[in-house]
Amino acid sequence: MGDKQYVKNILCIGAGYVGGPTMTVIANFCPDYKVTVVDISRDRIDRWNSDDLPIYEPGLKERVLKARGQNLFFSTDIDRGIDEADIIFVSVNTPTKTFGEGAGRAVDLQYIEKTARRIKASSKSDKIIVEKSTVPVRAAETLSKILHSGNNSVHFEILSNPEFMAEGTGIHDMENPDRVLIGSMDTPSGRAARDELIKIYERWVPREKMVTSDLWSSELSKLVSNAFLAQRISSINSISALCEVTGADVDEVARAVGKDSRIGPKFLRAGLGFGGSCFRKDILNLIYLCEHYGLQPAADFWQQVIAINDFQMQRFVHRMVAAMFNTVADKKITLFGFAFKPDTGDTRDSPAIHISKMLLKERARLWVTDPHALNNARQDLEDVEGEIVYEPDPYKAAEGAHAIALMTEWDQYRALDYRRIFDRMEKPAFLFDGRNHLDHQALFDLGFNVYAVGKPDRTRFNNDSQ
Ligand code: UDX
Ligand code: UDX
Repeated sequence: MGDKQYVKNILCIGAGYVGGPTMTVIANFCPDYKVTVVDISRDRIDRWNSDDLPIYEPGLKERVLKARGQNLFFSTDIDRGIDEADIIFVSVNTPTKTFGEGAGRAVDLQYIEKTARRIKASSKSDKIIVEKSTVPVRAAETLSKILHSGNNSVHFEILSNPEFMAEGTGIHDMENPDRVLIGSMDTPSGRAARDELIKIYERWVPREKMVTSDLWSSELSKLVSNAFLAQRISSINSISALCEVTGADVDEVARAVGKDSRIGPKFLRAGLGFGGSCFRKDILNLIYLCEHYGLQPAADFWQQVIAINDFQMQRFVHRMVAAMFNTVADKKITLFGFAFKPDTGDTRDSPAIHISKMLLKERARLWVTDPHALNNARQDLEDVEGEIVYEPDPYKAAEGAHAIALMTEWDQYRALDYRRIFDRMEKPAFLFDGRNHLDHQALFDLGFNVYAVGKPDRTRFNNDSQ
């Protein structure tokens, strides 16, 4: 790693979707800081050190190549990294617990705790510990207790610095954040640690975008931001159900409502519901916290955001089956897209997973196509019974299908030759647009029966019988 002298050594534990890109951006803007990213997974680290990065994010690769080997390093030597570091970002995964008390809702903190123990064991000098992973409120307290336990003379100052990047636009979000939130203890050492972190971010973030707060408020703000975003999606999706039965158009409603500057236009796109690794997990965590403190009505309120999300996917499948003469058994259905959103190969909690399972239960024959997510899709559905074919070419995937169901709004799905697709499908040909992404009138004119979320059906059946 050379003899070069650096201002400070930064370490990040956890080379995932959050840790890898965040550290790459820091390394790019702070060439005088040494940034090392470590992980327990050798495979992940090997890929960060190769041309085949473990995650796909627009703009990431060129930024990694710019800094890697200069001041950005990927390694599995966690203990050495800890020993050398002045500032340690903790970015290990914090999934929903799958066992024991709080299973299905609480956060599984075992990786955070193991990381804290390892930091304690390998530290010989004072360090700043930055919580980057999303954690429950007061997790910093637990971290501090573990780090300062026993007769360790090393002092650890804990900061909360949640990440607000969205996948697919992660690099842009990090380089142009709405805000950088830093929570710290209101003590001299807490404020000094906070200023160290501000020194890093101020290389590219204007000072007025730095929001400082106490630790617990910062931890909670991350959960609340995601909960509010998800709540807007469930709000508009609940209205989409009403639109379908009343003849209103949900996009028109969202446009009208979003013009109110107090409401704003973003995150009002009706669709199949939210997916991704964060929204469900963070709301479940919020619900668990409310229940833990005896605030059942608050817990119930947030539970509804998830209930509507599930309802939205069930409604979609129900509408498909009802439209296709109440049976999809042995019919070929082609899913356009599998990622939880476009511009990522990530399929964690993707609505496509839930919808696939429901369709397979109905004994449909499923063909899945996606430009970046087929490997993940294969893993997600490996234990599910039924016929599933993975086909990268959308034209081949749709050949002989009874229906197409669009799951992910990839740009390229708008540019397909739907005349060619229609000609090779079974008739009547059905198209279910789960993201209101396609030109419904044009598809209808080609001969499709078109069903879009929160919009009246465009079918040819009524017209024929009239
Ligand atoms: C994770 C959390 O899920 C999220 O809540 C938090 O906000 C940020 O960190 P993400 O980066 O998407 O998000 O997770 P993931 O891609 O799974 O990466 C976590 C990495 O940590 C993995 O590469 C894993 O191997 C590594 N890890 C996990 C460790 O290095 N040590 C551990 O003890 C556990
Ligand atoms: C989210 C937050 O946006 C980000 O700030 C946080 O750090 C991590 O979680 P991400 O999950 O990557 O980011 O993607 P996001 O763009 O928020 O989309 C989440 C899901 O909501 C996707 O499945 C998307 O399709 C859906 N969505 C989004 C809608 O259904 N309608 C909308 O209007 C917006």
